[in-house]
Amino acid sequence: MHIIEISTTDTYALRLAVLRENTPTTNVSFPEDDWPGVTHLGVVDLAGAIVATSSWVPRECAEHPGRRGVQLRGMATSKDLQSNGVGGLLLEAGVQRHTEAGFELMWAKARDAAMGFYLRHHCEVLGEGFIEDATQLPHHIVVRHLRS
Ligand SMILES: CC(C)(COP(=O)(O)OP(=O)(O)OC[C@H]1O[C@@H](n2cnc3c(N)ncnc32)[C@H](O)[C@@H]1OP(=O)(O)O)[C@@H](O)C(=O)NCCC(=O)NCCS
Repeated sequence: MHIIEISTTDTYALRLAVLRENTPTTNVSFPEDDWPGVTHLGVVDLAGAIVATSSWVPRECAEHPGRRGVQLRGMATSKDLQSNGVGGLLLEAGVQRHTEAGFELMWAKARDAAMGFYLRHHCEVLGEGFIEDATQLPHHIVVRHLRS
């Protein structure tokens, strides 16, 4: 397994299979996908298949104005590989990369169903829960303070 930069369209298959399952939408494109500075990182297996995806959007967190933030979006691991450490590897690689680039904060709209994953990776929950528009699933904002 290794981590590489991938294109926006490389993320679509896993976004559809993993993030759009049992939701009212099949839209796999995010408005931020092609913003300047956005990076899509993926985990590639030995056969060259992308088995996890993540998108990193330079964007301030509303709850932490003035701090240089990066929003993690589209975090997904192929269903047959979940709970094997792949997502953790990807999240930590993105955190390291953005910490080294001078970002102060990583934040995400985290599904409540995935909260254990974010808490294990040093995120804290901010504010009240909400139903996210696209998926209609319960979410909370999570934040991780980055240290260079
Ligand atoms: C959330 C998600 C991205 C995490 O990716 P993952 O590859 O499953 O992540 P990991 O394997 O690193 O960690 C997942 C769990 O497996 C456990 N785990 C990690 N390595 C393990 C191993 N070697 N053996 C057994 N369990 C392991 C971790 O403890 C973790 O438990 P937790 O959920 O209670 O924290 C993935 O489960 C997923 O795609 N879920 C559906 C989509 C989703 O909810 N995305 C997030 C949107 S905000």
